[in-house]
Amino acid sequence: MVWVPRCNLFDPARNNDTPFLRTLVDGCHAIDLPMKKTLFFATLLLATTAWAQKFEGLALTPPMGWNSWNTFAANIDENLIRETADTMIANGMRDAGYVYIVVDDCWEAKERDAAGNIVADPKKFPSGMKALGDYLHSKGFKFGIHNCAGTETCAGFPGGRGHEYQDALKYASWGVDYLKYDWCNHGTADARETYKTMRDALHKAGRPVVFSLCEWGQNKPWEWAKDVGHLWRTTGDIMSAYDARQRWENGWKLILDLQYTLVPGEGPDDGIGQYAGPGHWNDPDMLEVGNKGLTLAESRAHFSLWCMIAAPLIAGNDVRHMSKEVHDIMTDKNVIAIDQDPLGKQGWRFRAETGREIWVRDLAGGDMAVCVLNTGATAADLTTDWSVMSSILHGDYAVRDVWAKKDLGTTRTPRTDHVESHDVMLFRLSRLPPSDG
Ligand code: GLA
Repeated sequence: MVWVPRCNLFDPARNNDTPFLRTLVDGCHAIDLPMKKTLFFATLLLATTAWAQKFEGLALTPPMGWNSWNTFAANIDENLIRETADTMIANGMRDAGYVYIVVDDCWEAKERDAAGNIVADPKKFPSGMKALGDYLHSKGFKFGIHNCAGTETCAGFPGGRGHEYQDALKYASWGVDYLKYDWCNHGTADARETYKTMRDALHKAGRPVVFSLCEWGQNKPWEWAKDVGHLWRTTGDIMSAYDARQRWENGWKLILDLQYTLVPGEGPDDGIGQYAGPGHWNDPDMLEVGNKGLTLAESRAHFSLWCMIAAPLIAGNDVRHMSKEVHDIMTDKNVIAIDQDPLGKQGWRFRAETGREIWVRDLAGGDMAVCVLNTGATAADLTTDWSVMSSILHGDYAVRDVWAKKDLGTTRTPRTDHVESHDVMLFRLSRLPPSDG
């Protein structure tokens, strides 16, 4: 006899695994027990492989791109996005790796259409989102979009709750490659189950999408989101400041500290760095590099430290009007190479002492990045004595100043550098052959 399951395994309405499994068992009650068991596990396996997965092979290094929120908030339209893309080609950002152009909140019309479809604001995006996606693709970019796991986005536009499968199909039809999914207005929803529903919906829609969870670290996504998305926000929002704080927003230094204190401990397994790796990254929020509120030194240090912690590099400035200095920070290929290092190991804070911090990161091929941050309010002469790092170094290394693009000798000799307030020295260490030692 051919068994036709009465249970609909592919019911888009399912929200979590428990009712789903119950349906499966109920639907199979007419079959004898061993057969039931076999069918149960075979079907479960099928369901797991067919459904319960994110798109693999994406974001093997931290995603790079641009997002509209930090500078433009609600003031977005298709011209801004196209001009940004055009500028990023002309100024070399695209070729430096910034390929995801993400339209954040406020692109939607206030209401879904009569069929429940999410629609773009016809005034801001008169050509429609498919046309925008086509434009970005034709220019060598990938198309990113923002929405929310709750009933409404943080800015009050329609959210995805209850429309996950419908929205995922819509996004696929527009050519969306990246979805940032927020957490406002989620009511009593369970974060893990809610994000899994959207993951499954995206997977069912069939177009590979980088899934960016924006749940602000409230439910410790580093512990469970590896199989759900490709990156997860770890904190509330960043703001364009060094260490200022508002109710919901923190300057980048405070956000950086939080990465480290969210999970207590000591050494490289301290903090949340241990949870990151190729295809699954901690996201300390988008860059404020080049925005008002940061000195050039603070922008350089912010960029350096985001690279040290393998953060997604999502520019948040107006790239159409940026200084040469800011441009040079954001497109420095040797600094970006630290962020994009193929080993994918997040760096960690080796030492925090009065006036400075030392961050270290293991790189592919035995290299190491070391970043010394002047946390003081004035410029200082900071001495880096490599011998204090002997527990994590393996012999002697050649030392290169990454920003100055200069070789600086070896780790056999301590060095002293004059570092401006909130600026960094960023070193790349390369192992010397033992014969040189
Ligand atoms: C939240 C997110 C931000 C941004 C806004 C948009 O605050 O954390 O990054 O997407 O929503 O409303």
